[in-house]
Amino acid sequence: MAFQNRAPLQESFAYTVYRIASSFASLDDRDTIVTQALALLGDVCDAGRAYLFLFDWSAGTMDNTHEWCAPGVSAEIEGLRNLPLDMFPWWMQRLKNGDQIHIPDVAQLPPEAAAEQEILQGQEIRSVLVLPVYREGRLGGFIGLDNVRSAATWAPDTREYLQVAAELVGSTITRDDRARNAEARRAELQEAYEHLKQTQTQLLQSEKLASIGMLAAGVAHEINNPVAYVTSNTATLRQYLEDMRRLVEAALAGTEPATLGEMATSMDLRFILEDSDDIIAANLGGLRKVADIVKNLMAFSRVNEHDQIEVTDIHQGIRNTLDIAAHMLKYTVEVDFRPGDDVPPIRCNLGELNQVFLNVLVNATQAITATSRERKGHIAIVTHVADGMVHCVIRDDGPGFPEDQMHRVFEPFFTTKEVGEGTGLGMSIAYDIIVNKHQGRLEIGNNDDGGAFVHIRLPLVTSTPTAET
Ligand SMILES: Nc1ncnc2c1ncn2[C@@H]1O[C@H](COP(=O)(O)OP(=O)(O)OP(=O)(O)O)[C@@H](O)[C@H]1O
Ligand SMILES: [Mg+2]
Repeated sequence: MAFQNRAPLQESFAYTVYRIASSFASLDDRDTIVTQALALLGDVCDAGRAYLFLFDWSAGTMDNTHEWCAPGVSAEIEGLRNLPLDMFPWWMQRLKNGDQIHIPDVAQLPPEAAAEQEILQGQEIRSVLVLPVYREGRLGGFIGLDNVRSAATWAPDTREYLQVAAELVGSTITRDDRARNAEARRAELQEAYEHLKQTQTQLLQSEKLASIGMLAAGVAHEINNPVAYVTSNTATLRQYLEDMRRLVEAALAGTEPATLGEMATSMDLRFILEDSDDIIAANLGGLRKVADIVKNLMAFSRVNEHDQIEVTDIHQGIRNTLDIAAHMLKYTVEVDFRPGDDVPPIRCNLGELNQVFLNVLVNATQAITATSRERKGHIAIVTHVADGMVHCVIRDDGPGFPEDQMHRVFEPFFTTKEVGEGTGLGMSIAYDIIVNKHQGRLEIGNNDDGGAFVHIRLPLVTSTPTAET
């Protein structure tokens, strides 16, 4: 009797299941758990060999992935890889039906199991017990126990214990599959994230260029105007100078004063002198204007330089941005900027903040011009200090944020504008700059009396970290 010196049959099977279950709970490594489970099963069933086959349904193959051999029994695992799933049709059908298979005597197999008989006999296997293994709720393989003689006489309860053991092995594999999938998924996500970060940097760059490009046309016009009249004024001055040269040369050549007087009257010398003063004043004014525009552009374009964090006056940044946007704003909106006296220079990257001010101003202007109206629109910019933060609130009297989409405004690519008019990046970039880069807060909403507001809060840090020490 095979079990003579053992605990009663039922009990030892239950104990095996218990031990597999506890290794399942305490061990992490799939291979260790499965190998240990096979050893326990092989032992309790008094088998020569216990092994696990896993199916690859998509490839139509199966592999012997784990094996346990009783002392003196030779290993077979090496030759049992990549076998076709239809190698054991009779066997497979029974597994698909959810049955355990017990073949007490391989020699007695029915004719429809001829393929199985040939292979089993080739390995000198006389009896087999096979337990279906489920992976993610689907037949995923089987546990085979070779040379198990007595199984035919085991009670249904005993077979159920064995099935529980096979289920435990299946759930170990499933758990491990999931962990591996999760890890692969994590790696994929990480890669996608890196890619996204890179794309975002590129987009950020092109968004800067786009908003600057949009302003460039206006700026060009602003510069072109004074340049045009300085050029034509200079041509007039040259003509005046020519007339005066003739007069001076005549005087030097000893021309009579009376004749010189006639010459001066005919060329209208008095007017020439007065007009020259006006022309020079106008030219200087025009050149000053060009110089201002260039200075503003240079200050604004710090946005394209390396990150510059310094203690600086954000009001200057707002004025700068307003100057740059002046051409865009001047026909459609009036801007009322009220800088708070209590706002000190703060530690920030002014180039980046200018980008935020510009994005918000462009949005407000676009929102205002999207509605037909009699009068110009209105943008109010107010700054002040409260709760240890610098606040900057920008309100417009446009249609306001779309109420039902408010939560999406900071999403990259969210736009309600026509294709080609908005990329939907302005506010997401503003959010990144204010919240992530400046540890500030960015809030949006609609005013009680209509229109939108954007509320920027920046930390009130008035010195650089090194200056404090
Ligand atoms: N002042 C505002 N008034 C009303 N709606 C606004 C205002 N500012 C933004 N929005 C809404 O928020 C959306 C997102 O703004 P965001 O600046 O991120 O993108 P965009 O202006 O559409 O495109 P981009 O700025 O990239 O050119 C806008 O499409 C618009 O619907
Ligand atoms: Mg925008």
